[in-house]
Amino acid sequence: MDDTTPAPAPSATEKLAARPATVGPGSAKPTLPDAQTVTQVRHWTDWLMSFRCTRPASLRFRSGEFVMLGLPGEDGKPILRAYSIASPSWDEELEFYSIKVPDGPLTSRLKNIREGDQIILRPKPVGTLVLDALLPGKRLWFLATGTGIAPFASLLRDPDTFERYEQVVLMHTCRQVSELAYGRDLVESLADDPLLSEMFGEGFADRLHYYPTTTREEWPIMGRITDNLTSGRVFADLGLPPMNPADDRAMVCGSLAFNTDAKKVLEGFGLHEGANSDPREFVVEKAFVGEGV
Ligand SMILES: Cc1cc2nc3c(=O)[nH]c(=O)nc-3n(C[C@H](O)[C@H](O)[C@H](O)COP(=O)(O)OP(=O)(O)OC[C@H]3O[C@@H](n4cnc5c(N)ncnc54)[C@H](O)[C@@H]3O)c2cc1C
Ligand SMILES: NC(=O)c1ccc[n+]([C@@H]2O[C@H](COP(=O)([O-])OP(=O)(O)OC[C@H]3O[C@@H](n4cnc5c(N)ncnc54)[C@H](OP(=O)(O)O)[C@@H]3O)[C@@H](O)[C@H]2O)c1
Repeated sequence: MDDTTPAPAPSATEKLAARPATVGPGSAKPTLPDAQTVTQVRHWTDWLMSFRCTRPASLRFRSGEFVMLGLPGEDGKPILRAYSIASPSWDEELEFYSIKVPDGPLTSRLKNIREGDQIILRPKPVGTLVLDALLPGKRLWFLATGTGIAPFASLLRDPDTFERYEQVVLMHTCRQVSELAYGRDLVESLADDPLLSEMFGEGFADRLHYYPTTTREEWPIMGRITDNLTSGRVFADLGLPPMNPADDRAMVCGSLAFNTDAKKVLEGFGLHEGANSDPREFVVEKAFVGEGV
């Protein structure tokens, strides 16, 4: 380029990179590496929130994977935690669905983020809840408690899920009715999803069976996922045959206790646990570490 050639206009990413970035709610501190900008925040209950942020240009992930994200602590050192990406792999932004633990080192601060704030996001996705870790089949079951629905919010918006499976079943169980709202909103939005409708036709949403239940507040269908599977109630309610290893595949995400019990139930139906390197009939991942707050 000679001296007379005008410099090309900076792209949006270059403008963002050139901005004096800050990290954390209202913070004016210089940015840390891996800072991303929050674009949307929604509080669902006193304990649950979701947010969207910019996506690092370098981040490629498979729907269902998780990354480490966080904020700087008092001493300026990052407080990082594992978070499932709730948005699908094709999305220009990233979405996360989070618990707000009152005295949690990260989430007691994360709950205060607002649009325009910055968070730290390490762009190294990993995880077992990926379609490649399962053998082909007819039906895919997503079994989630609480925030364990996050990886399935990603997979449900990924056309690959409906490409590979004729039917998809989402069982989501929470203690209270208000905690089901994020999942309900997601499922309702799928019916109007332009990408999925274009690829699979307008009636494609009929291929998704949604089975939300509560355990501690009145709701039309109640009970733990494990109980509704072993009693056969979910099969009767949805008009599906009992799970079998020829047709059914499953992904499990919840507390350690739930994962352990769900694994036993799936094995009882003859399904085997798989992994990225050894695809089988189901895969499991923790939604959090710890026994409850
Ligand atoms: C693979 C993986 C993926 C994860 N994905 C998510 C996600 O998408 N969304 C999310 O909110 N959390 C997720 N977590 C949990 C997350 O890493 C943090 O534990 C959570 O953000 C709380 O951080 P904290 O520092 O505030 O408290 P921590 O010190 O990390 O946790 C304090 C206590 O809160 C409870 N707790 C923590 N997370 C949860 C939760 N999600 N649901 C119910 N109780 C919880 C536990 O009892 C824990 O001992 C994931 C964890 C793992 C291992
Ligand atoms: N105060 C609040 O408003 C509030 C709101 C949200 C979370 N929290 C706290 O956050 C912590 C995590 O709560 P959470 O509700 O997200 O997670 P959770 O305790 O794992 O419960 C989520 C759902 O999973 C079910 N479940 C738990 N263990 C199971 C098992 N072994 N097999 C099958 N199903 C199982 C629960 O049923 P059961 O009800 O039968 O156990 C519940 O419906 C708790 O300590 C809670 O006190 C508090």
